[in-house]
Amino acid sequence: MRKSLIVSLGLASIVSVSVAALDDQAIPDDALGLSKTSVFDIPDPGVFDYHEGDPGTNERLATSYHTAPPMIPHHINDMVPITRESNLCKDCHVQPDLLGVKLEPGMPVPAPRSHYVNVKRGQLYMGRYNCVQCHAPQAKVDVLVKSTFKQPGRN
Ligand code: HEC
Ligand code: HEC
Repeated sequence: MRKSLIVSLGLASIVSVSVAALDDQAIPDDALGLSKTSVFDIPDPGVFDYHEGDPGTNERLATSYHTAPPMIPHHINDMVPITRESNLCKDCHVQPDLLGVKLEPGMPVPAPRSHYVNVKRGQLYMGRYNCVQCHAPQAKVDVLVKSTFKQPGRN
């Protein structure tokens, strides 16, 4: 009886010592993610507005990496939702005649060859009809981690 009490006291102290050792190694809650706050906090992100520039009045934006879909530099108010039957983006961007033409400021960038089934006829590949699935409008917000990537050769 006595012997087993000593054994269990001994075991208990080993367990508590190792729990204390684990506590020392624990990563603090606010160092687990990219956020500066604890991962257990419920975030309350600020409200932001998308860029309000009309199409034709904006600089093209740098892409995030080679082959990334370029971001939309103008607003897309009243252009979404896009449906198979109604797609305002197409009216300005499906312009195969502009492919290879030097663009002046204010001219829409033609959707590239990869976006058509028949480039000559300007027949869009319908697997790409929902433009905003890949191209996103932008807003000025503070990013958690800044990217230093610059795509060579793009202005
Ligand atoms: C009224 C014409 C017009 C409409 C409608 C329009 N755009 Fe544009 N878009 C432009 C022009 C012009 C530019 C060149 C930048 C500028 O001056 O705003 C542009 C730029 C872009 C770019 C940047 C391309 C690059 O290579 O940097 C993307 C992507 C884009 N538009 C996607 C869209 C999508 C998606 C829609 C529909 C939700 C849309 N646009 C609707 C005229 C238009
Ligand atoms: C499945 C993703 C996807 C969809 C959907 C899509 N695009 Fe793109 N788009 C891309 C990618 C990726 C590029 C970069 C060039 C490339 O790799 O073809 C691009 C490039 C562009 C460019 C820039 C061309 C240049 O010379 O810089 C325009 C404009 C554009 N797309 C318009 C559109 C429009 C308008 C629609 C809808 C009708 C659309 N895209 C649908 C992925 C997509």
